[in-house]
Amino acid sequence: MTAPPRTPTRVQVLPAQVADQIAAGEVVERPASVVKELVENALDAGARAVRVELEDGGKTLIRVSDDGQGMDHEDAALALQRHATSKIRTAADLIGVATFGFRGEALPAIASVSRFEIETSPDGINGAHLRVTGGKVEASEHAVRQRGTTITVRALFFNTPARRKFLRATATETRAAVEAVTVLALTRPDVAFALTSDGRALVDCPPAARLIDRVRGLWGRELADTLLPVAHREGPLEVNGFAQRPAQARPAGRKGYVFVRGRPIRDPFILRAGEAGYRSTVAPGDRPSLVLFLDLPGDAVDVNVHPAKLEARFRDKFFVEKVVEAAVREALAPLAAAAPLASGTGYRVSGIGGDQEVQLPAGVPLELFGRDNPIPGTRYPVPSLLQVFDTYILFQTESGVAIVDQHSAHERVLYEDVMRQLTGDGVPAQRLLLPLTLDFGPPELEAIDAHRELLQRVGFEIEPFSGRSVVIHTVPNPHPRFDAARCLQELVSDLAGGRFGGWQNRLERFAATYACRAAIKAGNRLDADEMRELVVRLLTATLPAHDVHGRPSMVQLPKEELERRFGRT
Ligand SMILES: Nc1ncnc2c1ncn2[C@@H]1O[C@H](COP(=O)(O)OP(=O)(O)OP(=O)(O)O)[C@@H](O)[C@H]1O
Ligand SMILES: [Mg+2]
Repeated sequence: MTAPPRTPTRVQVLPAQVADQIAAGEVVERPASVVKELVENALDAGARAVRVELEDGGKTLIRVSDDGQGMDHEDAALALQRHATSKIRTAADLIGVATFGFRGEALPAIASVSRFEIETSPDGINGAHLRVTGGKVEASEHAVRQRGTTITVRALFFNTPARRKFLRATATETRAAVEAVTVLALTRPDVAFALTSDGRALVDCPPAARLIDRVRGLWGRELADTLLPVAHREGPLEVNGFAQRPAQARPAGRKGYVFVRGRPIRDPFILRAGEAGYRSTVAPGDRPSLVLFLDLPGDAVDVNVHPAKLEARFRDKFFVEKVVEAAVREALAPLAAAAPLASGTGYRVSGIGGDQEVQLPAGVPLELFGRDNPIPGTRYPVPSLLQVFDTYILFQTESGVAIVDQHSAHERVLYEDVMRQLTGDGVPAQRLLLPLTLDFGPPELEAIDAHRELLQRVGFEIEPFSGRSVVIHTVPNPHPRFDAARCLQELVSDLAGGRFGGWQNRLERFAATYACRAAIKAGNRLDADEMRELVVRLLTATLPAHDVHGRPSMVQLPKEELERRFGRT
């Protein structure tokens, strides 16, 4: 006979120690979560410098020291109790909470699953030293130390073997802890951060004046130099940070960070919205790095929706995504977004020198021409242009020399034209006096059939003829050297072969393929008027510095670089 299953009969309140351990399951997953909580506390305490020491990836020891406001003995003892916090008083304080912490959970949770020690003082006179093992206070003394707090966490999960088993290799845990510090270091460039792992310094960032200096300190100059500033505001939402230059994006290893009201948030949708801003500039498969700080009023977002506060809930997510996309797009637009030819120098393009004049159409971003308040329709100078190798066009800008790849540049111009025309009236086509007849294979014929409407809109009016032949009545005329038959053959073969397959949108895919095939080729000599038209159209395009394959259409040779090379500085 088997015993009947035991059914619980009485409701009991769990002892605090057990409750803490259960809460710890949510807050403390691995050493990196301890690092995150302790560093957040240090920042909340107004620290100017935060030090993290790890042994064995934090499995043996985690120590976080700060020079923040510290605590006296009474507060330190209280801080170890559940729901003890100095950061909010009422539930209403949660709206717009500006500190990282607000639940009063982290310290008791960590102390319940480790050998925990805190040394702290608010003033270098009063202070406390407490030791807690598995949630049980073992020593609680008054003690003196300098202002600030040091918390040491040893033998994490020593009393919860099941969790301890889940800890990964030292290198993996170390990496996660470094990442936790990195993320927080990005939120506060003004605070010094250091992390050592078994005595090796893995993070060492002095206080920095600007975010870009902190980025350089964390990831090095090489990466920092590929980033373009993002600064955009729409209604209540402000987006700041960095977006990587499209041509420098790579398929792997990108950095993707989102902060909301100064708090790190894991939000793949916001990152994806940022990536959407790269539409038509980045090669399929390349993942540009993004560091985005979103600021909006406290009542427009709820940060209390995740145990480790890694998610936020927006009142209007759709709006947020739309603005993030626009912010990234805007960052890619200026001429200054062109890649510098020599790295390691600052560069900026704000206008063009020279003496030829050009009449600008309305609606053009005229700051390109270095005028504060230019009047559309007025004539403004364009630079003298020089074509080299029948492929590149050089001209002077206010801050250096710009070098344009004529094919990539024309591709960008045509792409933007075609996108407008595909959604509007279509391209003015030329009717051929003698219609062209071309032969295609079955996949190409199918592609023509599937894209007939789009082909028509860019100017190809095509009619099936007999068997494998089609008749072409009209063709576009993007430039004088345009070879309509060759362009159509290449375009149709690209469409049939699924080129640009990584692009999301059928219209964009078509426009990019057309632009690529219809654009002026490298190796064509251009006369002065042709060059001028191309450069002016490029400079007045929305995204002049990037072609449609994720390559630059223009690079800059900064004047400072020339001066440096020739020893003029
Ligand atoms: N490094 C520190 N310096 C000064 N005070 C600290 C420090 N760490 C913690 N405290 C105090 O201890 C309290 C409890 O810390 P704990 O991390 O448990 O909770 P919290 O930060 O208020 O909220 P959360 O659980 O959301 O992190 C804090 O509110 C703060 O007053
Ligand atoms: Mg905290």
